[in-house]
Amino acid sequence: MSTPVKKVPIHLQSAQNRLLIKNGKVVNDDGIIDSDVYIEDGIIRQMGRNLIIPGGTRTIDARGKYVMPGGIDPHTHFEFEFMGTKSVDDFYQGTKAAVAGGTTMIIDFVVPRKDESLVEAYERYRQSADQKVCCDYALHVAVTSWSPKVKEDMAILVKEHGVGSFKMFMAYHDMFMLRDPELIETFKACKEIGAIAMVHAENGDLIAENAKKLLAAGVTGPEGHEMSRPEEVEAEAVNRACVIANQVNCPLYIVHVMSRSAAEQVEAARKRGVCVFGETLAAAIGTDGTNYLHKCWRHAAGHVISPPLRPDTDTPRVLVNMLAKDNLQVTGSDNCTFNAEQKALGKDDFTKIPNGVNGVEDRMAVLWEKGVHAGIMDPMRFVAVTSTNAAKIFNLYPRKGVIAVGSDADIVVWDPNRKRTISAQTHVQAVDFNIFEGMEVTGVPEYVIVNGRVCVDECELKAVHGFGKYINADPFGIYVYDMINDKEKKPRGIARTEAEAKRYAEEDAA
Ligand code: URP
Ligand code: ZN
Ligand code: ZN
Ligand code: ZN
Repeated sequence: MSTPVKKVPIHLQSAQNRLLIKNGKVVNDDGIIDSDVYIEDGIIRQMGRNLIIPGGTRTIDARGKYVMPGGIDPHTHFEFEFMGTKSVDDFYQGTKAAVAGGTTMIIDFVVPRKDESLVEAYERYRQSADQKVCCDYALHVAVTSWSPKVKEDMAILVKEHGVGSFKMFMAYHDMFMLRDPELIETFKACKEIGAIAMVHAENGDLIAENAKKLLAAGVTGPEGHEMSRPEEVEAEAVNRACVIANQVNCPLYIVHVMSRSAAEQVEAARKRGVCVFGETLAAAIGTDGTNYLHKCWRHAAGHVISPPLRPDTDTPRVLVNMLAKDNLQVTGSDNCTFNAEQKALGKDDFTKIPNGVNGVEDRMAVLWEKGVHAGIMDPMRFVAVTSTNAAKIFNLYPRKGVIAVGSDADIVVWDPNRKRTISAQTHVQAVDFNIFEGMEVTGVPEYVIVNGRVCVDECELKAVHGFGKYINADPFGIYVYDMINDKEKKPRGIARTEAEAKRYAEEDAA
């Protein structure tokens, strides 16, 4: 009879690991230092040179490499039921691919089914994701209708379930779209409970009108997708969302800023003092809208995402510059992948092509290539826009998004000289297509450490099913709410009586 092997739970196995990363250049958003990093029980315990560490500790030599906070991708849609189908990268395959590319945390979007409450939808996502994720994750929740019950559920999610952000759609007519009065209410609710409002900014009414016209004129192919939602349709919605958020003094995060005009609206709003953050995508900086003109229908449909990639081929460079100059703050992926037969649902009508592209695996490499390798941004800014800013905005910092004593050991050891060519043939993702196909990138994650466990080891992927944890985001994060509190003004009329003047003077003195 064989002796039963005592199984050590995964989280305890990792806790037994001790790791020293030696001789690397540690990059945070605010500086680069030569430092070793000692990790125990999944936490960074010591930093510096000549550290005294226990014998038997595994050492990784990071000479000539950058040691950076693992990427945080704040925009994924794993196993998302959308447009009559379901995205093919699930929480396992999606997070595995994330880790392969140097991302150690993702934030996905709970989107409620029709007749499902926000809390029920959240529970459904947790049930599926908890057992599959290879890295830590958090959840945003989409608000796709408005009622007192929705408002109540938002508060429950924030207070009891660690949700810190809600996404509202200004597009997807007859599916998810909210109108201005509902946006105002949702933004007010977010502000009341200390959450961040997020918007998908496109004018849904104009898109519906344009699509109708195009289809009537016989334009049915993927090129109609961009034609029905041009830049100004995106830019108008960005501006409208900024104005509404500012009027109710709610922090705002614009997801997937895909065009120069939209990015300029974010830049202008920030200059006016609006508390708004802009996220662009790996897709928007790594490829462009000329792909919609491709003769191969599958190729063109493979690039369908909303808002669309832009025909102006200067857009990727403009967006990288915007990231470098802090006109935009975050790079996400909006990973939402569909195989050929799923994209084919829109073979005769571009409005039926499931919207979404890949990016979770290649986001870091694409931005390194187009940003750092191209000489447009330095490694510190790369860290800011791939990790630290998301951690700050979604109140995960300094647990995530920084290499510091006490932070989670989510680390990527980045080789800035090694090259690889992106391809669907070799990628980890489940999807059968890659929008970055054939792109040569310089910069590869040689080691990826997730909560202290080496999950990419000398470029070999060793991600572990179910190893990740759900991370709570607390409300009223200081990085955004300090600004909101500073801007908060009690409405005040003209003091026409002595009593009013006295009351205002007392309030001013307080
Ligand atoms: O095309 C996209 N972006 N698909 C995912 C859903 C969304 O709007 O983010
Ligand atoms: Zn969206
Ligand atoms: Zn083809
Ligand atoms: Zn999305």
